[in-house]
Order: sequence, then structure tokens, then C-alpha cells
Amino acid sequence: MPRLAYVNGRYLPHRMAAVHVEDRGYQFSDAVYEVIGLSGGRKVEPLRHYDRLDRSLREVRIAWPMSRRALGFVADTLIRRNGVRDGYIYIQISRGVAPRDHAFPVGAVPGLVMTTCRKPPFNGDVAGRGVGVILTPDLRWKRRDLKTVGLLPNILAKQEALDAGAFDAWLVDDAGAITEGTASNAWIVTTADVLVTRRADADILNGVTRLGVLDLAREAGLAFEERPFTVDEAKGAREAFLTSSTNWIRPVIALDGAQIGDGRPGPLARRLVARYAEVFGDR
Ligand code: PDD
Repeated sequence: MPRLAYVNGRYLPHRMAAVHVEDRGYQFSDAVYEVIGLSGGRKVEPLRHYDRLDRSLREVRIAWPMSRRALGFVADTLIRRNGVRDGYIYIQISRGVAPRDHAFPVGAVPGLVMTTCRKPPFNGDVAGRGVGVILTPDLRWKRRDLKTVGLLPNILAKQEALDAGAFDAWLVDDAGAITEGTASNAWIVTTADVLVTRRADADILNGVTRLGVLDLAREAGLAFEERPFTVDEAKGAREAFLTSSTNWIRPVIALDGAQIGDGRPGPLARRLVARYAEVFGDR
């Protein structure tokens, strides 16, 4: 079965899939996107992803390229035709193709691209293993709540982490508080056993996985706070982890080379991984 991509109305072999050189997503990062996790053949929390897509589009004033229902149908068709059970679907909507000019083009049709990617099934095992993250200044713009494709600062930070032998970088704001990871949300568990993640304002992306974990925390009656936490607080935390649609829940066991807790995935993170796997994992 050849791998297909959806590009502006056509399902094309992935290696032939291309957009025009004057697509504004390509030239200006004038585009928004979503990454929806796929687990056991199901999309994980698609409604929350489509709601966030709707919000990103409205805030940057790009029209839906088709109805939300039709877009969901295209996504499902691509997932089915590519036979993907575990991994993710990538959806990008640009302001369209037009001669290069910063002003919004008149009459341009929004561009829609979708691709799928396979990943190992989420059964809690991989997610149970801990990773190290580094700290680096958050160099991004002031609307990080919008899922736009302008990811250069995220890419530079991720590569800095990989070059340092770490899994990811946690980004630090001017006040010394951690905002989030390069493509994930950041969490700690305090010494008082309180789960803490930054509140969802313009400083971070309100992750769908983040919302799912908050639901699980509520369901389990865990103490949690949505507020900024500093680098020092994170370094002294009992546990830490990150969340995203591509990594689910990943315990963080080292921060800038310093061990978190006892240097192993903590009990609360492991409990959340197990519960998340029950609710959303591959079955
Ligand atoms: N990124 N913060 C940032 C900056 C992100 O890019 C992402 C997701 C998240 C987590 O959001 P969610 O739980 O909805 O995946 C937080 C995707 C996976 C990406 O860019 O590939």
C-alpha cells in the first residue's frame, strides 16, 4: 500500500506530494496546524484538536478550507487509506498561494495538507521510561497559544537538546519560569505531592494531552495547580514529566544534568501513564 498524502483536494503518493513555492505557509509561516495522535486505529480526542484548530484559524484570520465535518472525513480517509493504527495525523492549513506580499492576499484559497506518520503503539511501556531535558531561553513570539507553523525557535532548542544528549529542551521565560517543551507541555510534582503545570494563557500551547491529563487528575482526586513554576522549583521537584500527542506522557528524570527525585520515573507519573494507557492506549 503506497503511503499517501492529501494535498489541496488530492490523495497523492507521499513522495510526489508538494505545495506551490508561493504557498504562504512555505514563504511566511502563514499557516496553522494540528497533530492528532492515533492509538489502536482511533484518533485521540479529535474534538479538542478540531476546536483548537478552529481557534488558531480564527485568531490568525484564515478561513476553514472546507467544513469541519468534511475535514474530519478527509482525515479519516487518509488514515484508513494509509492503514495507520498508531502514530499521528498532521494537518496544516495555510492562507493559500499568492504572489509574495505581506498583506493578506485577496481571493486566495486556503491550502490544506495532511500526512500521516506511524509510531510504535502506546501501551505505557515506552512512556514509562524516563528522559532528560535541558533548559534554554524561550525565544518565541507572544502568541504561543496558537498552533502556527513558525517553529524555528522550537527547532533550535530541540537540536540544542539533542546535541547535549537530552530528549528535549524546556523553555525558560524572562522571569525564570518554565513555559513548556519544544513540542510538549511541562509538568512537575512538588514535594507536597501537588501536580503543577503552567496555566493555559498566551505563553503556552494548551495541549490536548495536557487537558486529558488534567481530566485524569480530577477523576483521581489529585491535587493540582495551573500556575508558572520556576527552574529552581523544577530542580527541587519530586517528579517531572512532559505531555504531547506524539509522546503521550514521558517522565523527566533529569533537568540540565541534575537528577529529579531519585532519578527514576516517579510514582505519580507512572500512575498517570498507566491510566492514560487504559483510556487512550492501543487495544
Ligand atoms: N506539538 N506545546 C507545544 C509548543 C507543542 O508544539 C505541542 C504539540 C504541545 C502539546 O500539545 P498536544 O498535547 O496537543 O500535542 C505543547 C505537536 C505534537 C508537534 O508540533 O508535533
